[in-house]
Amino acid sequence: MASLELINIQKTYGATAVLDDVSLRMEPREFVAFLGPSGSGKSTLLRIIAGLETLDSGEVRLEGRPIQQLAPGDRGVAMVFQHYALYPHMTVWENMAFGLRNARMPKDEIASRIAEAARVLEIEEHLDKKPGQMSGGQRQRVAIGRAIVKQPKLFLLDEPLSNLDAALRMRTRLELAQLRHRVDAAVIMVTHDQAEAMTLADRIVVIHDHKIQQAGPPMEIYSRPANSFVARFVGSPAMTLAPVQLLPAESPFASVRLGDGSEVETRVPRSGLPAEGALELGLRPESVRVAPAGAASTVARVELVERLGDRTFVYARLSDGLSITAEDEGNSRVRMGETVGLRIDGTDAHLFAPDGAGYHAAPAA
Ligand SMILES: Nc1ncnc2c1ncn2[C@@H]1O[C@H](COP(=O)(O)OP(=O)(O)O)[C@@H](O)[C@H]1O
Ligand SMILES: [Mg+2]
Repeated sequence: MASLELINIQKTYGATAVLDDVSLRMEPREFVAFLGPSGSGKSTLLRIIAGLETLDSGEVRLEGRPIQQLAPGDRGVAMVFQHYALYPHMTVWENMAFGLRNARMPKDEIASRIAEAARVLEIEEHLDKKPGQMSGGQRQRVAIGRAIVKQPKLFLLDEPLSNLDAALRMRTRLELAQLRHRVDAAVIMVTHDQAEAMTLADRIVVIHDHKIQQAGPPMEIYSRPANSFVARFVGSPAMTLAPVQLLPAESPFASVRLGDGSEVETRVPRSGLPAEGALELGLRPESVRVAPAGAASTVARVELVERLGDRTFVYARLSDGLSITAEDEGNSRVRMGETVGLRIDGTDAHLFAPDGAGYHAAPAA
């Protein structure tokens, strides 16, 4: 049985459309990340599932049961917010007990659930503290603990890491990754951080323009983006998109010419491409390498060099003005302002049709 099912969800605020015909089916214990730019409707969708927001039409089911008529507390979901909103005058233990006491759960059941959650989250020694005596990361763990003790069928996490500083964020991300194997529930995490989504989720649901743009495993989203929006949004630095001309050829794969005249042989089957309209070529930085004159397929003027230690990203401009992002080795000698050779490898290149639809290399046989 599916865990969560969203069926044709429709939501507007006044005249503003927020969600347009959103459908999704989650597997039991699946970890799904909602990824999208700010304002794309991620939180609204989460709040609809939680029962904190109404929907205009559509259906929400959890383990086969329609839940949209149920009050938030009766749905079997637990939500963790970005602003963890702990009660400052209560201890950690009391914060976790609060919802359970309201639900009139027996005392010993409350105690054993809190003990178990504290063990899972490794906050046993902090149970008597007030939130003000704890670090941001510890407080976020308490907020997650407050969700765990409800033993929900579905956890809803809205940007749970975005209030933490960079180091803590990484650590808490690892903890979340481990935690999900210790709870018997499905998880939806909202984030605008693609690295978070890539590392944690079984499946990423990219939301933009009121719609689900693509839903799939992280590497499928990265390697086979459904459209040019997903292609640009996922991956850092972003994929280069270049207007190109399709070249006539015998080969079953598309060859294209960039605006500066250089040509790229892709592995995208020619047969599936639309017959008309301008195409865009999509190149990840790893497909564009800084190369000596003999091995280069084109040249570009370097505008910015970004050193990450293990590799270097080179932001450059082709002779026709196109911005292109290339990768070079860690101790790159490339300098700003100089002209360098680039070798463009079309093996993993993508093509995008005028409507944005993505076409990808045929999977290796
Ligand atoms: N209560 C509300 N009333 C009116 N508009 C809202 C309300 N909540 C959110 N919106 C609008 O709905 C859109 C989606 O918001 P939200 O779901 O918070 O996006 P996200 O979480 O992806 O950043 C935004 O344009 C926002 O301004
Ligand atoms: Mg939000």
